[in-house]
Formats: sequence, structure tokens, C-alpha cells
Amino acid sequence: DLKVQLDNASGKISSHMWGIFFEDINMGADGGIYAELVKNRSFEFNHPMMAWKRLENVPEGTFLIVNDSRRKGNPRSLKIHKATDIKAGLQNEGFRGMGVRKGEGYEFSLMYRQASPDMRIKVELLNENDNVIGTAELPLSEGANWQTGSVVFTSAETSPKAKLNIWFQGAGNAEVDMLSLFPQDTWKGRPKGLRKDMVQILADMEPDFIRFPGGCIVEGRDLATRFQWKKTVGPIEERELIINRWNTEFNHRLTPDYFQTFGLGFYEYFLLSEDIGAEPVPILNCGMACQFNTGEVVPLDELDEYIQDALDLIEFANGNINTPWGKLRADMGHPEPFHLKMLGVGNENWGPQYIERLAAFQQVLKEKHPEIQIIASSGTDPEGERFDYLDQKLREMNIDIIDEHYYRPPAWFLSGADRYDDYDRNGPKIFAGEYASHTTRPNGPGRSTWEAALSEAAFLTGLERNGDIVTMASYAPLFGHVDGWQWSPDLIWVDNLHVYGTPSYHVQKLYSLYKGTDIIPIQRDGQNVTGQDSLYASAVYDAEAKELIIKFVNYNDQPVVANFQLDTKKKIKGDATKITLANENLNVANSLEEPLKIQPQTVQVNYKGKTINDTFLPYSFTVIKISVQ
Ligand code: AHR
Repeated sequence: DLKVQLDNASGKISSHMWGIFFEDINMGADGGIYAELVKNRSFEFNHPMMAWKRLENVPEGTFLIVNDSRRKGNPRSLKIHKATDIKAGLQNEGFRGMGVRKGEGYEFSLMYRQASPDMRIKVELLNENDNVIGTAELPLSEGANWQTGSVVFTSAETSPKAKLNIWFQGAGNAEVDMLSLFPQDTWKGRPKGLRKDMVQILADMEPDFIRFPGGCIVEGRDLATRFQWKKTVGPIEERELIINRWNTEFNHRLTPDYFQTFGLGFYEYFLLSEDIGAEPVPILNCGMACQFNTGEVVPLDELDEYIQDALDLIEFANGNINTPWGKLRADMGHPEPFHLKMLGVGNENWGPQYIERLAAFQQVLKEKHPEIQIIASSGTDPEGERFDYLDQKLREMNIDIIDEHYYRPPAWFLSGADRYDDYDRNGPKIFAGEYASHTTRPNGPGRSTWEAALSEAAFLTGLERNGDIVTMASYAPLFGHVDGWQWSPDLIWVDNLHVYGTPSYHVQKLYSLYKGTDIIPIQRDGQNVTGQDSLYASAVYDAEAKELIIKFVNYNDQPVVANFQLDTKKKIKGDATKITLANENLNVANSLEEPLKIQPQTVQVNYKGKTINDTFLPYSFTVIKISVQ
């Protein structure tokens, strides 16, 4: 029997408990959710012609890369010179091809100047067999100053691996930049916006927060390549791109072409958060580069610039439109504030160097913005244990929230379901900021199997039971592109046209959709249910909907009959919703071919009186929601 003490809540659950962690890793942003189809559109990759191919043999000098340092953030452009009207064009390969759909509109656009009167552009969309499936022409106007041009055309076919030809027709000159192709059908129809299916699968989780932009990319491999939010806002053509920390150069995987263009920048992250009802949770560099790489630090007497970035970010998010950064937000289209409440300082940083830098941030932020909660990194211990030194220091500093990360095997997650049961309630709150059960680590890439997901489901009962102290939780990483990834497992996999959630996605989603306001003790023989007989349980009450929600994990290869005794004076309505994720084979996973092999099954059930007596499938995670009066 499991006793559910419905009238005896042990605490309030944080209102922003279940969120998502976004990082531009595994082609999550460029080549992923950011819907741009042209790779290296502004010729700013390390090799200016990366991803571009000449279509014809043309005389030397027909195409020149001009590097003009006066052009902020985007010095390079392409100059075309044709003495006569010869055939000259370039082909862009896209991000492992371009995903296009039959009947959908695509907008080709560019910036250009100094076009000769005769110069015109013709674009052709090709399928994987090099057949033309869409075409458009665009005349260029004369003029010395940069101007923009665009044309919309329709794709006659669906292709996951299309390419774009750009022909420069007529004789004469032109200088072009920001050669771009976007689907018109983006999330909320925003021009040059985000991939709709990838945002939708996030929105379906109803996340309470989005942590962005990472992850290691916050730190950078060195300080020069750290994430600097100010370089990611304002006109897109002025956002200075950098090599992605997950580029092959730093990681031995197949992504030598991985750069951060910042088309998805901080403004867009805030907007995305708002769109899907999630609190924005930015993480900023603390003056230290990734300690797994160079570990470069900025001298303490030069930290002001970093702290100023934090102050200015708060102004950008929340400031009045008469402030410089508030005005930029308004100019970009959002006069209303974004209601930033939490800010992370550092990601996976540790040691005295971190504490010194964090203390400097804390002093200024608490003085100028006491309303902002500071999230501090807890470093990363390979065994998933806390660093005593860091933990003690963060407590002494009375930091608001500690960000813990754990990428560990399933057994660790199963045995850790009581990790926070006796945790000190008087100090900082906990943000389980990155976690994933890794079935095959350290010997190879982990698969997002049912075993991984079920062990996470078991662990998450522990987070939910301690939802008063563990106030935030997010799986990581979020996205993986099947044709270009550096890290696995991931929560959601995509190709250029499709997206599917792993079993872990469905577990996260169930926690997020079925959250409550109050923690309800659920015990067996007076003990929390944290793995005895391979069973795990947590319960919450939703005071608004007046519903009791029980989560139950049966980690046995046999069905289990369980009896939940509802200890309450409240009236229980018998009708309940029972949602089950189950599979007898722990090794199964979802895939592009079978995206819903593991998916929730929902049934309506009727339980009599104050007892829920039911049978739970082998290797299952079940959510029961029952009305209470
Ligand atoms: O989620 C992948 C990486 O794991 C993150 O970038 C980093 O914070 C952690 O080490």
C-alpha cells in the first residue's frame, strides 16, 4: 500500500519547475531551429567560400571576396565582375542540404550595391537529383549604397536535400551579401524566423522556462569565442558571427562548417520564451572560458566589462524604452519588457577563480538589481557528486540558485531518487540545469532509449517530491540533427524536414504538463518511495484545477499491482485520467522511421472510494490525474 497524504502537503512546488535548456549544439540553432537555409550567407566563415561552389568556369576575378573592415560585424561581401554576359553563378549546399516542401513559398533575399544596369539575379532551387523545382528572377537597382532585394517563389517538390543556385545575369558589376533563403511558413509566420515544427514540439511541452544560450558556448573555448549577447542583437547583417565551440576543430565530429551566425540572438530567445509562455533564463559568461579547454580567465581588474554586460542585459530585457538598451529592444519590435527575473553567471565553472568572479558580479547585481535572482554554476564532478569547496562557498555567499549538472548512467539516476530528500532547506535553491541518463557512456555516444528515459522518470520523482528546493529542472542537450551532431543522447532529434521526441522527451513533457502547486507526501511503510522493489513515486496537488496527480515508476520486468490509499477529508471523484509510457524492452528507442514507438497512452478510468487500486505495466511510467472536491 502507498499512503497519499492529500491533506498534508509538505511544501509548495516552484511555479517554474519544468523547463528547457537550449544550446546551439548538434545544429540546434544554425541549421536547426533558425530557419535560414543558406549556409555561410555572408561569407564570414573561416573560409569565406565554405558551402559555396562555382557553377561554371569563369575568368579569374569574376568573383572576389571584398573585406571592408568599416562594415561592422560583417566585413566581407562578394563582388561580381563580368566584362561580358557570360554564365556565372554560385551554388549553396545548405545545412546538409535544404529541407523544402512542395507548394510552400520561399523567400530569397540579399543585400547589394553598385549594380550595373544590366545585372539581374536568377535563383534556382534544385532537388537531390539536380532537377529544378523552383525558380525566380530579381532585377537589381543601381545605387552606391547597400540596399535589399527579395523575391518569393514556390517549391514544386518536397526535398530534404535541396540546393540553391544563384546566377548573376547580364554584364557588369555588383557587390552582394547576406544571400539568404527562408521558408515563408515559419513559427508565427515571422519573416526570417524559426522552424515551425521545431518550435511547436517545444511549445507542446508547455515549458516553464527556457535556459539559453548554453552550455559550453557561453564560456567559449577561449574568451575571444565566448558568447557575447550584445553582438547578437540589432540588425542581423551586423551581428558578428563566431566559430561554434562545437565545430570539428574542437571536437572530432563531422561539423567543420559549424558557426554561430546569431540570426537567433538574444532578442529572438526572449521572444521565443514569451511565445511559448516560458520564463527567459539567460546564462552569461563570468570572465572564464571553458575549463575543459583553455580555462582562460579575464583578470579581475578587467571584469567590469563582463559585469556591465549583465547590467545592460537586464536593461535590454526589462528597461524603460527611454534607456539605451530598452530603446534597442523597442526598436527591434518589443517596447514591452520581457520580465527577466533570473540570470545565470557562469556555466560549469569552478575553483577559487570562479568564486572571485562570481562575488564581483553578485556585489554589483545585488546592489543595482536585487529583484534578479542569480544562478551560480556548481561545476561538474564526473561522478555527479557536489564539489565540497564550491558548495560551501556558494552557501556562504548566500547565492540564490545553484545550477547542478549530471550526465550519468541509468543506475545513477535510479539510486539518486532521494538525492534531495534531506537537503538543507535554508540555503540556495537548486536548478537541475542539465541532465540526461547516458546508457553507454563513457564508451560511445548514448542512445535515447527507453532505459534512459525510465531511469530519468524515476529520478524526477525525487525532484518533484523536493520541488520546494529543486525549483528548476531541464534535460540537456535539447536538439540533435541526425546529419550533424556532436553529443548524444538528446531530447529531440530532427532532420531537415522532420522532428521527433525521444522517450526522454515524453517523460519530460508528462512532468511538465502534469505539474501541481503543492507537494503531497506519498509513502510506503512510512518511507518515501525511492526504489524499494524498483518502485518510485511522487504526488502533487493542483490547487487551481483541484486535481491530485500521482507519478509512479515500475522499474520491474513484471507488472505490479499497487494500492494508493488517499488519506483525505476531501471528496474524491472517481473519474481519473491514466497516462502510461511503457515498453517491456528497455533497449527500444524512437527514430525518424518510428517516431512514436514509445508514446503516452491515455485512458479514462474510474476508481472507487478513496483507494486507487491498479495494475502497472512492466517497465512503465504512469501518471494518474484524479479530481478532488
Ligand atoms: O549539454 C551539452 C554540454 O554539456 C553543455 O554545453 C555543457 O554545459 C555540458 O558539459
